[in-house]
Amino acid sequence: MQHETVVARTEAYLRQRFAGDQTGHDWWHTDRVRRLALRVGREEGVDLRVVELAALLHDVADWKFHGGDDEIGPRLAGEWLAELGVEHATVSHVATIVADLSFKGAGVARPMATREGAVVQDADRLDAIGAIGIARAFAYGGAKGRAMHDPETPPVLHATAEQYKRAAGPTINHFHEKLLLLRDRMNTEPARRLAAERHRVMERFLADFAAEWDGGA
Ligand code: ADP
Ligand code: NI
Repeated sequence: MQHETVVARTEAYLRQRFAGDQTGHDWWHTDRVRRLALRVGREEGVDLRVVELAALLHDVADWKFHGGDDEIGPRLAGEWLAELGVEHATVSHVATIVADLSFKGAGVARPMATREGAVVQDADRLDAIGAIGIARAFAYGGAKGRAMHDPETPPVLHATAEQYKRAAGPTINHFHEKLLLLRDRMNTEPARRLAAERHRVMERFLADFAAEWDGGA
């Protein structure tokens, strides 16, 4: 099967699978990550077929929504591609990327094993910051019934994946617990460039938010 056909089938599957998602994992997140990953990947000169398939399948079954099971995503991604007849090396490369991808807390480092993986991780992280990142954070917080802000609940830098999984703080804290940390964790130069501006957007937003909160703006 042609790469384009595999992509088209995968797109159709994911559009249906993510329909109605309110946790920041709708189809359009996946689509943005795919476009960012291809853009960064082109500059990095990596295998764009692997990048595109891994970007498409990266959130196919997130551990947060499957009782903390972090093996189901890579397994589903691998089974899906194998069924479409994608060759074994690509299937296992994509499954490894999906497995290594998610961010599990400030103190939990997860180095990507390949440059294709590094590119997809950068793209996923870019979509969590900037204007889109702000919107996603409040959409996620709203869907989970979290407070937007609570000045009496300070942010926590989670040292372990377990702590990060249990976190239930207000959404503003998520900026300090994760989103503001992402700029300095980009793997590639093109992503670092894009992250710098997205980071400034969040800093401006947080400064305005604080000024308005205090009645000073
Ligand atoms: P991904 O799997 O795409 O890397 P996550 O599953 O960690 O991202 O989160 C999906 C979206 O929801 C992201 O934009 C993320 O910042 C946001 N999000 C995750 N956890 C929280 C939280 N505790 N508060 C607010 N937003 C959150
Ligand atoms: Ni994602």
